[in-house]
Amino acid sequence: MKKIVVAIDGYSSCGKSTIAKALAQYAGYTYVDTGAMYRAIGLYTLRHHLLAEADIIAALPKIEVGFMLIDGAQHVTLNGEDVESQIRTLEVGNRASEISQIREVRAFLVAQQQKMGEAKGIVMDGRDIGTVVFPNAELKLFLTASPEVRAQRRFDELVGKGQQPVYEEVLKDVNDRDYRDTHRAESPLRQADDAIVVDNSTMTREEQMKVIYDLFDRHQ
Ligand code: DC
Repeated sequence: MKKIVVAIDGYSSCGKSTIAKALAQYAGYTYVDTGAMYRAIGLYTLRHHLLAEADIIAALPKIEVGFMLIDGAQHVTLNGEDVESQIRTLEVGNRASEISQIREVRAFLVAQQQKMGEAKGIVMDGRDIGTVVFPNAELKLFLTASPEVRAQRRFDELVGKGQQPVYEEVLKDVNDRDYRDTHRAESPLRQADDAIVVDNSTMTREEQMKVIYDLFDRHQ
């Protein structure tokens, strides 16, 4: 069967990576979490105290971002070191959001992402996959859910981790991030003209995966 490229974009906290991972497994494809790549560079700049844009750009040739499989799970690597757990913090997330606005950083990672997709058979998720990285992807999905639903999901997640969040603050954070993602100068989050929108506000995970597996089967 012919292999395709699946591009998944969408807002934060709408379950992109869970969906992308499940689809990659269903299809027998490679999954690439591009957010993890921005986070790895964010971590490097924190470790080396690089704040100025020029310093960050100058450091790019010294940074190698990759992936390794550990017990079937994908871990991101930074110059060969497994940094999967270090990149999943709020601090690194915020740093990733900042450095992702630098054009040279984006060009550096986009080139690697395009290489990873050369042989097709890939599911990649991020913010600019269907618009910039793979404008010719055979299947483009744009995931969304209302800010209130996404805030509630994140609120529940934080409560599950033993924290005591304030819903209004979580909602404000979701709205602020949406604004930043869609208004930055470099490759802002936007729906590709040929993307299929999946609004999962009122869908269960099973309902949503059925819709997505069906779309995949039809695009084979
Ligand atoms: O999806 P995430 O939260 O792991 O992404 C971390 C940051 O990286 C996020 O603030 C936006 C940025 N990002 C990006 O600009 N382009 C991508 N393709 C993926 C992530």
